[in-house]
Parts: sequence; structure tokens; C-alpha cells
Amino acid sequence: MSTAVGPGTTPSAPGTPLVELDRVSKFYGNIKALEGVSLEVHAGEITCVLGDNGAGKSTLIKIIAGLHQHDEGTFRIEGADTTLVNPRDALDRGIATVYQDLAVVPLMPVWRNFFLGSEPTKGRGPLRRLDVRLMRETTRSELLRMGIDLRDVDQPIGTLSGGERQCVAIARAVYFGAKVLVLDEPTAALGVKQSGVVLKYVAAARDAGLGVVLITHNPHHAHLVGDRFVLLKRGAMSGSSTKDGTTLDELTRQMAGGSELDELSHELERAPAPSHLGGHPADAEPRK
Ligand SMILES: Nc1ncnc2c1ncn2[C@@H]1O[C@H](COP(=O)(O)OP(=O)(O)OP(=O)(O)O)[C@@H](O)[C@H]1O
Ligand SMILES: [Mg+2]
Repeated sequence: MSTAVGPGTTPSAPGTPLVELDRVSKFYGNIKALEGVSLEVHAGEITCVLGDNGAGKSTLIKIIAGLHQHDEGTFRIEGADTTLVNPRDALDRGIATVYQDLAVVPLMPVWRNFFLGSEPTKGRGPLRRLDVRLMRETTRSELLRMGIDLRDVDQPIGTLSGGERQCVAIARAVYFGAKVLVLDEPTAALGVKQSGVVLKYVAAARDAGLGVVLITHNPHHAHLVGDRFVLLKRGAMSGSSTKDGTTLDELTRQMAGGSELDELSHELERAPAPSHLGGHPADAEPRK
């Protein structure tokens, strides 16, 4: 397992991305799921990855999260060439990933889920037990620090809304000292208002100095918070830009694939009814 980059190791040059992919490719057997994809994640910035279904977004974050390894290209963490061996390795390097189907235990209280896998204990030897009070209090104060005021941290996490659960997961990553936060479509299943709340906490994580990777289908969400944008199409990069270099209209058009939408609107135009059903013969003229 690789060593953690932390105090005591040589700091990388200023401006070095926390995470950098340089022309990375990934094969699943014969299928090329990613081809020559490059992106940068900087501290205090949000890098948005946009793309349609099957574009390769999840594959991309699985590489950053240490779940899969890339086959070609270079993956750098704070300037050093890296291949992560597993998700624990990624976590040790400060990369926390929040998957869409959050790995929570629905019947357990919020505080229990907040500390899942990293529970503090008190006492020694046979008297060692979970420090429940500390976990409760820390969960409450950490959530408050992010501006999340839960009625009760004892309620089962399964009773929270999808948006609230995403927010708890983000607060957890910040508390456990993540440097990079990867979010796989955190707003995909949410309504307008809840999406807004989640985006607010994504921005709060950025303001806390983390580098954030935000995967989304939604150019509006991306444009609201993004500093950098990478567009994927069938595994390849179809565009990349920074906030100054793009507008919402442009991002939307690129996402929608302007010409594909035009084609679709032609296909969806109603065919004129045959004249014996009351359609006017003139309707049968091809449209200009
Ligand atoms: N484990 C796998 N084995 C084989 N092929 C895979 C595997 N995972 C993904 N693929 C293929 O790789 C391509 C990219 O998939 P990926 O899940 O990364 O897309 P995505 O952008 O996340 O899509 P979605 O928006 O639907 O989540 C797809 O064609 C998919 O079928
Ligand atoms: Mg996906």
C-alpha cells in the first residue's frame, strides 16, 4: 500500500493538482470504456464531469476511487505517478468517494453511520467500548458546522431525505480529513429544492479547501458550482473548459449534442394524417 501524503512528506509545488489524469484509458475486456481522458482537480475547486448514460463517468471515478485501475495514461496524486490498489488506498491518500447509492445502514442512527468503520472507543482491554457520547456530539456539531441542523442525530439514517443523506456523507468526508471529494451524481434523484441544498454543501466542501469532483448529467447544476468542466461522450472527451471559458448555454448545447437534438426533433414531428382521415393534402408536403 502506498504511503499517505501528509505532514512530513515533501510538499508538492504550488499549483500542482491534487489529482490529475493525463490521457487515461480503461478497457473492460474488449470494450474501451475510457479513451484518453484528462482532468485536473485542484484544492478549493470543483471539477465537473458531464456526460450521458454510458459515457464513462462512473468508470472514471472508480479509477480515482481505487476500485479499478487504469490501463493507459498517467494518474497523478499531488504530482506523483500513482496506481491505487484498492479503495482503502484511495482513502489513505485523502480521496473520499460518495456513491449515489450511499453505503449506509438505513436502520442505524445518523451518528452511527457518520462513524461507520472508524468508531472511536474509550477504556482499555475488556473494558473497551464505543464512545457513543463522543460520536453523538461530534456528529451533531460537525453537521451544524456545515449548516445542517438535524432534528435528532438518533433518528435512523433511512428516515432522512435523499438530499439530507448526501449532505451527511459530504460532512463525514470533510470531518475525516478528505482532501479530494468525489461525488457520483449526488443530485440525480433529487428535486429542484433538494438539489440546491446538496449543491450548497458541495460548495461548502470546496470552501473548506477540498478538491471536488462532481459527476452530473445536469449542465445547470454543473455551471452553478463548477470551476472546470470535462465532457465525456462514449468514453472519450468531447470537450473541456474552465468557468471563464464557457457559458451555461454552451455547456447545455454540448451536453445535449445540438445536432442530435435537431435530428430527434425531426423524428418526433408528427407525421401528417392521411387525407382520408381528414388530413389536408398540403400537410403531406415535406417540411422545410
Ligand atoms: N464492469 C464492466 N464490465 C464491462 N463493461 C463495463 C463495466 N462497467 C462499465 N462498462 C461499460 O463501460 C461504458 C461506460 O460505463 P459507465 O458506467 O462508466 O458510464 P456512465 O457514464 O457512468 O453511465 P450512467 O450515466 O448510465 O451511470 C458502458 O458502455 C458500460 O457498458
Ligand atoms: Mg454511472
